[in-house]
Amino acid sequence: MILDGKMVAQEERKKLCTLITSYQEMGLRAPKLAIVLVGHNPASETYVSNKMKACHEVGIEVDKLAFEEDITEQELLNVIHQLNTDSSVDGFIVQLPLPEHIRESMVLTEIDYRKDVDGLTPMSMGRSIQGLRAIPSATPAGIRTLLEYYHIQTAGKHVVVIGRSNIVGKPMAIMLMQRPYLSLPSMSASTLGDATVTVCHSKTDHLEAICRTADIIIVAAGCPGLVKANMVQPGATVIDVGINRIEDPSTPRGYRLVGDVDFEHVAPIAGAISPVPGGVGPMTIVSLLKNVVVVYGGKLLGAKVGEE
Ligand code: GUN
Repeated sequence: MILDGKMVAQEERKKLCTLITSYQEMGLRAPKLAIVLVGHNPASETYVSNKMKACHEVGIEVDKLAFEEDITEQELLNVIHQLNTDSSVDGFIVQLPLPEHIRESMVLTEIDYRKDVDGLTPMSMGRSIQGLRAIPSATPAGIRTLLEYYHIQTAGKHVVVIGRSNIVGKPMAIMLMQRPYLSLPSMSASTLGDATVTVCHSKTDHLEAICRTADIIIVAAGCPGLVKANMVQPGATVIDVGINRIEDPSTPRGYRLVGDVDFEHVAPIAGAISPVPGGVGPMTIVSLLKNVVVVYGGKLLGAKVGEE
């Protein structure tokens, strides 16, 4: 079974569109996202334009705040502080990576977690770990939605997460090991969780053997072809979070995107597998949109993130 993130994301966008239209029929303003982009990293520019396109499609207003590579850390922090207090903006993200002279941790720490629709700030992550109301990290939340759509259960299962990044590996592991919980009112009720989670990374011994014991493998290592057929037990679910650009002069762009899984050889063995592109990527974007709508809706209902 191919886990078709492109199709599931489209379904989710339709739901969001209906919801936003109903708000507008009530005479309410549209939800609004701001995206901060520093420099001209080609991958980041592509991600940002995809996010903006998805916002337009569902009726979320979106502002792009683009800055040159040489913006200082302090100038960027001033932008964050303004966005934190701008009541016309429901949520905002800072596209990563940032230039080397800007400390990512400083920037993320300054984002008000109640507007952190990427779910990447230390407060969002800390609150999630403790089971408090928090905006979920976009990529793990997207994977959760994908698993739910295909009725893939995690309770009692052994999930191997490869990668320990703050953006995917760590929040994914936390989300899956937790008791199923309501992270936010109305939209993020989830039946997933209760998994036994092993987190592997670049220094893990016996990666192959550990993976072979997995019911579900989630790989976010940024390493093309890392997960091979001999690491996957028959019937296992394989979720590929990798997005790697491989030079390919035969394509119009001169490169193609591949994941962290040797798809050709793993697909015949796996019970379910997400492709790259068209798997996790579109789900991450739709999770971001959902997070914006949840923050916006929370304001309407008076149930705000951080209210407990
Ligand atoms: N860079 C790569 N993926 C992401 C993401 O999901 N959010 C942000 N802010 N930056 C990224």
